[in-house]
Amino acid sequence: MDFNEQIDRRQTDSIKWDTAETVFDTKDILPMWIADMDFASPQPIKEALKKVIEEEILGYSYPGDSLLNAIRNWQKDKHNMLIEKDHILLSPGVLSSIAVTIAALTEPGDSVLIHDPVYPPFYAMPEKNNRQIYRSPLIISDGRYEMDFDNIEQQFKEKNIKLFILSQPHNPGGRIWSKEELVRLTDLCIHYGVTLISDEIHSDLVYSGNTCISPVTIDETYKDWIVTLHSATKTFNIAGVKASFMIVFNKKLRDQIVKVQEETELGIVNTFGMRATEAAFSDSREWHEALLLKLEANRDIVTAYFDENLPSISYMKPESTYLFWFNASQLGVEHDVLRKTFAKIGKIGLNDGISYGPSGGAYMRLNFAVPESLLMEGLDRIKLVFDHFNK
Ligand SMILES: Cc1ncc(COP(=O)(O)O)c(C=O)c1O
Repeated sequence: MDFNEQIDRRQTDSIKWDTAETVFDTKDILPMWIADMDFASPQPIKEALKKVIEEEILGYSYPGDSLLNAIRNWQKDKHNMLIEKDHILLSPGVLSSIAVTIAALTEPGDSVLIHDPVYPPFYAMPEKNNRQIYRSPLIISDGRYEMDFDNIEQQFKEKNIKLFILSQPHNPGGRIWSKEELVRLTDLCIHYGVTLISDEIHSDLVYSGNTCISPVTIDETYKDWIVTLHSATKTFNIAGVKASFMIVFNKKLRDQIVKVQEETELGIVNTFGMRATEAAFSDSREWHEALLLKLEANRDIVTAYFDENLPSISYMKPESTYLFWFNASQLGVEHDVLRKTFAKIGKIGLNDGISYGPSGGAYMRLNFAVPESLLMEGLDRIKLVFDHFNK
């Protein structure tokens, strides 16, 4: 486990490293955007995948008990969630799960509520599926996001919302929603008959002093109202294998979702995805512990760098995720050209806040899951951009 080894990802069809020219209009950038890590994936996973090849025949495969038990054990040990095999629905990706859930639980024209800002596909998926999408802006209080429950309730009341899609923890702000906030949100959902989709793909990347609670574990009655989405791919840096799962306790919801999965063949994960998920949850726990130490050290490097070198720039200190959300309004450039400004002047590829929703417009998102030398290089490039405009 050498998290400081620099691995050349260029010319591997990596979205992060090989699509810079299209995304940033220049080839010559340090890419610190899309959320995968520049760290080698865990050895036990690589060995499990080699074993698939060594078995010689790459035929059809099904989710065996060892995979389902690996998922159950992980959810029990890490999230205090007791699940039966029947509650698990495999899915090629969390986004596929969102698409299937939308199709299963809503009709075209129905309304879906999301936070603003939030992970862009939460907007795009319902929209592409002809659902009406509404946003509830997050409030910034003491440098962190908070939910506006009055606004959420008003929209539930007035807009006949059918689904709420939550990122727990929050991408891009790195906030972990507290038990009290989850109770308020879920109680509102139940009161207004709204199903809660809880996307917990980042919930295993949690820094010391914080705990990420899955809303479905708070109260037995919540189980009927929540669809939990999870995956090993974010935590173990295996996004390319495409594998994830939903946890659905309520039989009626589950039947509706399975029906769409069967209609669309979206309830299937390929052999590599299943073996990788099992090896992640069963055999890569030591790697996960080491990763968390590295990510927390990197987070602390980033915040210390900003405090020292860019003291007037506000940011959100992540409690989870390897994403750092900082305010670039000081540059005084239009939100829709921020991404290209950072690329052109700093030669760094970041995600622009505007793509997360109108209230993210002033922000940029840095992915700090990189070896330390790249991290320092990236931070210097960000500083260069601010220095350029402050001349
Ligand atoms: C909140 C959130 N959900 C889902 C995804 C993507 O999940 P998948 O690759 O399984 O579709 C991401 C990736 O960054 C994410 O941040």
